[in-house]
Amino acid sequence: MHFIIINASPHTVSASNTAQVIEAFQQGVIEENSTVETYHLSQKTHWEKSKLAFLNNENIVFALPVFAATIPGYFMEFLEELYSDVSKEQKYSVKRNISFIIQSGFPEACQRIYCENFLKTISKFLNSNFNGILSYGINVRFAIDQSWQSVLDSYKEMGSLFVKQNGNFFYKQAIDFNKPEYLSENEAKKFNRLFNFFCRQISEGRGCKVSLKDAPYEIK
Ligand SMILES: Cc1cc2nc3c(=O)[nH]c(=O)nc-3n(C[C@H](O)[C@H](O)[C@H](O)COP(=O)(O)O)c2cc1C
Repeated sequence: MHFIIINASPHTVSASNTAQVIEAFQQGVIEENSTVETYHLSQKTHWEKSKLAFLNNENIVFALPVFAATIPGYFMEFLEELYSDVSKEQKYSVKRNISFIIQSGFPEACQRIYCENFLKTISKFLNSNFNGILSYGINVRFAIDQSWQSVLDSYKEMGSLFVKQNGNFFYKQAIDFNKPEYLSENEAKKFNRLFNFFCRQISEGRGCKVSLKDAPYEIK
């Protein structure tokens, strides 16, 4: 099978977590003797090429980050242009399948539900079949030890399974990947400690000398 993967993050490739996810995922796809063409919307020359690749191929994977609980505005602009092109096509001239990989900075699956629900509605506007969503969240900046690398290894495995399932994310491992729904108490505490550490670094770097709990607006 041949797949088109489009990175819909506005971040440049070297700074894009989605680009790293795609890199791992496509390794798994290639290992199953499939071929991949990857485009990054953040690269100026890839915008038009991505549209052409979408219009001329059957198996499309959009990979994107969650921004403010939904899709990046940048991706919305691309979809609007694509919609205009697809509307001019002979209906069903190409039988297209669309899948999505979404990744976000917060681990809880509930962070991505709104975005997932929106993505589920897109395929029909693009005269395409909906082939599922692979969804995962991790804060890459705070990922400790080898945890980011092990997530990337899982994406590789998902790429391989994706091909074995004829290019969809409806298989059990993909559904299970979309976890955890909520953080455990211990994980939440760990995350809080890291977040506080990060906030302290920023505030001290900007000259703050009091505790983060300081509330100067309170009347004593
Ligand atoms: C403007 C902005 C908004 C974001 N909003 C969310 C959000 O609502 N929920 C979430 O889990 N992560 C959010 N994130 C985190 C990104 O989804 C995460 O950092 C992602 O890995 C970025 O991928 P990229 O580097 O390919 O753009 C946001 C990041 C940015 C920059």
